[in-house]
Amino acid sequence: MRNITIAIDGYSSTGKSTLAKQLAKALEYVYVDTGAMYRAVTLFAMRNGFIANGIENIPALVRLLPKIQLKFVRNDKLKFSEMYLNGENVEKEIRQMEVSQYVSRIAEIEQVRYKLVDMQREMGRDKAIVMDGRDIGTTVFPDADLKIFMTASLQARTTRRYKELLEKGEEVTYEEVLENVQKRDYIDTHREFSPLMKAEDAIVFDNSDMGLKEQFERLESIARRYI
Ligand code: C5P
Repeated sequence: MRNITIAIDGYSSTGKSTLAKQLAKALEYVYVDTGAMYRAVTLFAMRNGFIANGIENIPALVRLLPKIQLKFVRNDKLKFSEMYLNGENVEKEIRQMEVSQYVSRIAEIEQVRYKLVDMQREMGRDKAIVMDGRDIGTTVFPDADLKIFMTASLQARTTRRYKELLEKGEEVTYEEVLENVQKRDYIDTHREFSPLMKAEDAIVFDNSDMGLKEQFERLESIARRYI
């Protein structure tokens, strides 16, 4: 057995995080949800009035970037890591629809990407890591040992996301979720700096018609071939 780097990228709401988390647990690897980092920076921007009602003050956010401290802290009860923004647990807040509405705009900013990519490379220095996001196999770890590109039909992704938000008690409509997923995909694939795209050597994993158990078993068997 050797320690490897596993990069999982893909469109919004393909279930990357759920699967990556399970895989990391099975392999006893560290799991890093890079989307949570972009979400936390977005929350910071919202709280400081740099982004509201479609108006963004990007230079002000960029100036304050050094003041943003992000940390994953393990919650032993829940058995997974939660995102802390300047010492505060923001795990719940960053998953809210309002953050989802702005996050792709914040993730377009070059300086934000530099800061977060640096942190992500540092986290993966010792390998034995499963990292999920949009640019892990292309930019963060272009030499990752195993790259997965996850995809699923728009309908499957919207339905999953919609159910997840309803379970969390958010008041959203299916149409709002559909629009958000489509909009994020558009911005993520069209941005100038490290847009979402399949790395040439990534394995495409379409889970439109797969349940969680099947997805996990398939992914784990792929991963074990590389270890
Ligand atoms: O993975 P999640 O849906 O939580 O990511 C939220 C947003 O963060 C994405 O829509 C994308 O705009 C941005 N993101 C990114 N690069 C990553 C991870 C997330 O641009 N590596």
